Amino acid sequence: MELARQGARVTGVDVSDAQIALAQRRVEGAGVSVRLLRADAADLSPLPDASFDAIVAVYVFPYVEEIAVCLAECTRLLRPGVRLIFAQDHPIRACFWDEEMQEESVLPARSYFDDSPLRWTFAGSDAAMTSHHRTLERWVFSLHEVGFVVKTLRELPLPDGWADDPNVDEYTREIAAFLPQVMVIEAVKR
Ligand SMILES: C[S@@+](CC[C@H](N)C(=O)[O-])C[C@H]1O[C@@H](n2cnc3c(N)ncnc32)[C@H](O)[C@@H]1O
Repeated sequence: MELARQGARVTGVDVSDAQIALAQRRVEGAGVSVRLLRADAADLSPLPDASFDAIVAVYVFPYVEEIAVCLAECTRLLRPGVRLIFAQDHPIRACFWDEEMQEESVLPARSYFDDSPLRWTFAGSDAAMTSHHRTLERWVFSLHEVGFVVKTLRELPLPDGWADDPNVDEYTREIAAFLPQVMVIEAVKR
């Protein structure tokens, strides 16, 4: 919405009808113009080749099982020389999820190299979630494979204000003092 406010022509994509409906309400509330499309990020066929100047994905890619197809779709949609920017949990965080206990652990509970799906329950609800863990090396390799060059890789602590958020548990706070929590990648289409 911020990009639309600044004058960009924006298309918002989500696989969920409910999320598209929520986005529609927010867009209308903000009085901006955003095209909203319900689609799987691994099949963006309604959108034409080389029709975008940037793609931004915030906490979406961990939920996309077919990430190689999704990244190939991103290269297809972008014009050469422009950027894909995405942000999500840093891959190291997956090591501190204890699937059996369904809670964060202060010691590693899962191998960094284990790329099987992570199963967890969304905080404050009983929604069953599945996300996909990939190592940093795999992210860089997957991006290169479909025609991106990684320009910037940021490894960030907990965002400002999260430490005071009651939904952030004590374990996350302890781990966050020592390890990166958020990864941001800026990749340029060759
Ligand atoms: C954690 S939310 C992030 C939403 C938003 N980007 C934000 O920062 O508030 C993850 C979103 O990814 C969407 N999603 C999950 N799998 C997807 C897929 N395969 N294709 C497109 N969207 C997907 C979900 O419906 C959900 O809206």
